[in-house]
Amino acid sequence: MTSGATANGPGLGDCGVRISRVSKTYRTRSGTVEAIRNIDLDVNEGEFVALVGPSGCGKSTLLHIVAGLVDMSTGDVDVYGAPARAGRHDVGIMLQRAVLLPWRSVLANVLMPAQIQNSDAAKSRERAYELLEMMGIAAFADKHVWELSGGMRQRASLAQALVTDPAILLMDEPFSAVDEFTRERLNVEVARMHAARGRTTLFVTHNIQEAVFLADRVVVMRPRPGEIEEIVPIDLPRPRTAETLELEQTARLVTEIRRLIGKYV
Ligand SMILES: Nc1ncnc2c1ncn2[C@@H]1O[C@H](COP(=O)(O)OP(=O)(O)OP(=O)(O)O)[C@@H](O)[C@H]1O
Ligand SMILES: [Mg+2]
Repeated sequence: MTSGATANGPGLGDCGVRISRVSKTYRTRSGTVEAIRNIDLDVNEGEFVALVGPSGCGKSTLLHIVAGLVDMSTGDVDVYGAPARAGRHDVGIMLQRAVLLPWRSVLANVLMPAQIQNSDAAKSRERAYELLEMMGIAAFADKHVWELSGGMRQRASLAQALVTDPAILLMDEPFSAVDEFTRERLNVEVARMHAARGRTTLFVTHNIQEAVFLADRVVVMRPRPGEIEEIVPIDLPRPRTAETLELEQTARLVTEIRRLIGKYV
């Protein structure tokens, strides 16, 4: 385990991501915006944590801080025992707005992180095709990004985050632009992949059923300045399959979380 070997002191244990007292205030020309306040959250190694809450409560901000893309105002974030920073090879990020290069084909975009890391080209291509197949967009591998729909771009962007099989996955609403049936199918794929590889995952979504279906714990945030309202453990049996969606227990958890968010919206 990587985290155990660091000098972060006792207690880090099997923690993949440790978020301690993190706050963020954006300073803009028109004033300041306090996005998140005093967030404490550990994501254990191999754990799947979903983040839900009203629009604007700071979910993306928190994800960006963990990714090292945004500086926090106060607090600390440790990712596998080292302070959060951008450009880590062990972190796969899928941002809310897909960032793909228009002059590259879909396949070339997906392969980019593997190229940056100098990974074995043939193996990476194989994995990229596998992922595009899984996402249902293999037929578009040689197209340009502008030839894809919004939902297809999201899926290409997710394939890009997964291509190097990073130890930590940060995903921001990966399926917000796909239809409900495709989302359900992709959720099953994500659950299957998580069961197989057990990557430490922080997953932002507005879809409560998706959060419940995938996560070990669902973190419910309050409106801005976002604080944690409650952390709901999801004790649904694993593996999670299409049948999981039919369970009464699933419906109960969805209702509980909907109520928690509904207090504010
Ligand atoms: N770069 C920025 N500069 C200034 N304010 C920002 C910036 N990014 C986000 N904000 C503000 O911080 C708050 C939280 O934004 P954030 O994008 O983190 O919310 P969110 O929970 O991801 O929302 P959504 O569910 O709509 O994606 C919002 O009020 C937003 O306007
Ligand atoms: Mg967001």
